[in-house]
Amino acid sequence: MQQIPSGTVDLVFADPPFNISYPYDKYHDVLSDQEYLAWSERWTTEVHRILKPDGTFWLAIGDEYAAEMKVLLTHQIGFHLRSWVIWYYTFGVHCTKKFTRSHTHLFHLVKDPEHFTFNDSEIRVPSARQLVYRDKRANPQGRIPDNTWILRPQEIPSGFDDNQSVWYFARVCGTFRERAGWHGCQMPEQVLGRIIRTSSSAGEKVLDPFIGSGTTATAAKKLGRKFLGFDISEHYITHCLARLKNVKSGDPLDGSK
Ligand SMILES: C[S@@+](CC[C@H](N)C(=O)[O-])C[C@H]1O[C@@H](n2cnc3c(N)ncnc32)[C@H](O)[C@@H]1O
Repeated sequence: MQQIPSGTVDLVFADPPFNISYPYDKYHDVLSDQEYLAWSERWTTEVHRILKPDGTFWLAIGDEYAAEMKVLLTHQIGFHLRSWVIWYYTFGVHCTKKFTRSHTHLFHLVKDPEHFTFNDSEIRVPSARQLVYRDKRANPQGRIPDNTWILRPQEIPSGFDDNQSVWYFARVCGTFRERAGWHGCQMPEQVLGRIIRTSSSAGEKVLDPFIGSGTTATAAKKLGRKFLGFDISEHYITHCLARLKNVKSGDPLDGSK
């Protein structure tokens, strides 16, 4: 990121290692608290520098450091928190002796609280007033989704299977068609789709400093954005480039069926 000129990126999405001993191929996910937070301060300072004045930063973070990262980003680095989204997912790793994990925190942060992109018309969903109560006062444009992201049937009418009563943004599980199969932390394209559509416009630049399986770049390409991504693992990058070759601007995001 140090090679990127200041104030040139519209949207950064980052899903960094959570410092939970996750077995990545190259990165060793075990730092002391102090080292992890010092490293987080370094790379998030760079994110702030490279973003345009009206740019947006979305951070995915686990329970372990969510509180510390919120304080770091808003009190030290200078971001403004617009939303603290909980992405509720299914297919979490089953835990013994504690409750099974089923959420990740998604922080929606902006540099300038007065000027930032928020394309609400891109992400509105039908309201219960419209669909359930048939209330004539309902806004025909629907409503902005809640800050707990559970994709319900009315939020994705084209993709909802009539036999299911609930449809969630599941984690990308091993049997899903979109699963690239070589990265254990692959995020669903639908989650990135909502973030990219909300916080950037066609032709703008999206950057992911921890690209992993390439979900952000894939969703950005399909949605007609420019994209940049980094990973410490050459192996992941090779796969990511192959994944990108198979998609083009205008392709539908995976995971809606
Ligand atoms: C949680 S994963 C990202 C998963 C990604 N969101 C996806 O959908 O596939 C974190 C990634 O950060 C990479 N990584 C760790 N340290 C890094 C560093 N210093 N610079 C760049 N990438 C790094 C790891 O190799 C891993 O692929």
